[in-house]
Amino acid sequence: MPAHRRRYLQGPFAPVREEVTAYDLPVSGRLPGGLRGRYLRMGPNPLGVEDPAVHFWGLGAGMVHGVRIRDGRAEWYRNRWVRSAEVGAALERLRRGEPQPPGMPVSPNVQVIGHAGRTFALVEGGLPPHELGYELDTIGPCALGGTPAGSSVNSHSKVDPRTGDLHSVAYVIGRSFAQHVVTGPDGTVVQVTDVPMPGEMPFLHDFALSQNHVVLFDIPLRFSIAAGQFAWDREAQARIGVLPRSGGPVRWLPADPLYVSHTLNAHDDGETITMDLIVAEGPLDVTDPGAIVPVLERWSVDLAGGRVERRRIDDRAQDFPRINDAFAALPHRYGYSAISPLYGMPFTAGGPHPDVAFTNALIKHDLAAGTAQVHGFSREEAVSEAAFAPDPEGRGGEDEGFLMAYVAAPERGASDLVVLSAQDFTGPPLARVHLPVRVPLGYHGNWIPDA
Ligand SMILES: [Fe+2]
Repeated sequence: MPAHRRRYLQGPFAPVREEVTAYDLPVSGRLPGGLRGRYLRMGPNPLGVEDPAVHFWGLGAGMVHGVRIRDGRAEWYRNRWVRSAEVGAALERLRRGEPQPPGMPVSPNVQVIGHAGRTFALVEGGLPPHELGYELDTIGPCALGGTPAGSSVNSHSKVDPRTGDLHSVAYVIGRSFAQHVVTGPDGTVVQVTDVPMPGEMPFLHDFALSQNHVVLFDIPLRFSIAAGQFAWDREAQARIGVLPRSGGPVRWLPADPLYVSHTLNAHDDGETITMDLIVAEGPLDVTDPGAIVPVLERWSVDLAGGRVERRRIDDRAQDFPRINDAFAALPHRYGYSAISPLYGMPFTAGGPHPDVAFTNALIKHDLAAGTAQVHGFSREEAVSEAAFAPDPEGRGGEDEGFLMAYVAAPERGASDLVVLSAQDFTGPPLARVHLPVRVPLGYHGNWIPDA
């Protein structure tokens, strides 16, 4: 059995078995005053019958981990499975001590966002968003305010801070089109544009949003009906689709056949769209994503000339790029990413054990100065995406705020919520909230201020 099949069931990835509620968490350092809200982060937490022979990261039910912060106190920590009908049934069987049927029940496991005063767990590909209550219990599947029936959103829906609109790209495996869906600040859908996608559906995990455009990435990672999963198509012609936000049609431009993992941000400058994004050379085997080396690039889309120019910004293996979301779709100076424990470490026979220590760090990019700062953690402190929380007592400066991330605290057999100052990025953390349990490495999350 390939070792990488086991990697995502062990070490810092190992799922947790219980839902926990804890109040008044101990804090080292000082939580910034004025922060009032929840830091929520989603990830797969397999439930049911684990089969290492077929397992890979991304399989399994979603679990959200949240910390509520108010007036300098960490009021609670909660972790909850996202209860789709099948996850709810599996948990009920567990409660009764009954055996589980083969397979793993699924629920949205990639992202958790706040919009229109509500909380949504997201995944792409066809599973509907699930609404969560403030304390993370599942309310149920929902259509995000009227997304076309049977449709979905993708994992990286983005809010335009100037309009309050939520932009999503929806796609469903087996369909011959994707959709750009705009949900207004009140939670109702205000615009849907179909984008024809004949042939095998590409992995539309993320997209870019500027003031005037939505950019889709038609990359060589395509859903293979025969394989039953996404697979790298070496023959595929890669392209980017530029869709005016005012409505179609989409315009396709040729692009290099790279894996586009995530976008940092994008903005318009006349006839040019500037996008910062994380890309990697393929091929990508979705069951062994550690084999690729994702890096940060800036792509300039010349709409007049119909060309895409690439420039490398940072060669270090990194992913999970984030900005201060107040600058989404606008020019930005700063970006944050994680030197992930996942990347640049393919598993081969006799290769490193999944528990082997790795480089763990967060990076702050100053894209105007062309410099970067690194906040390193110790060898065992697994860290992944950090979300930006604006300082409510600040003046709205782009890096006036905090980075929040769960970091493993192996000496306690648990995890901390670490809060860094974005302006004193290499300084010691402002605060560490000591959680009573371990938070497995996961995907994406957000600081969701209270309304
Ligand atoms: Fe993602």
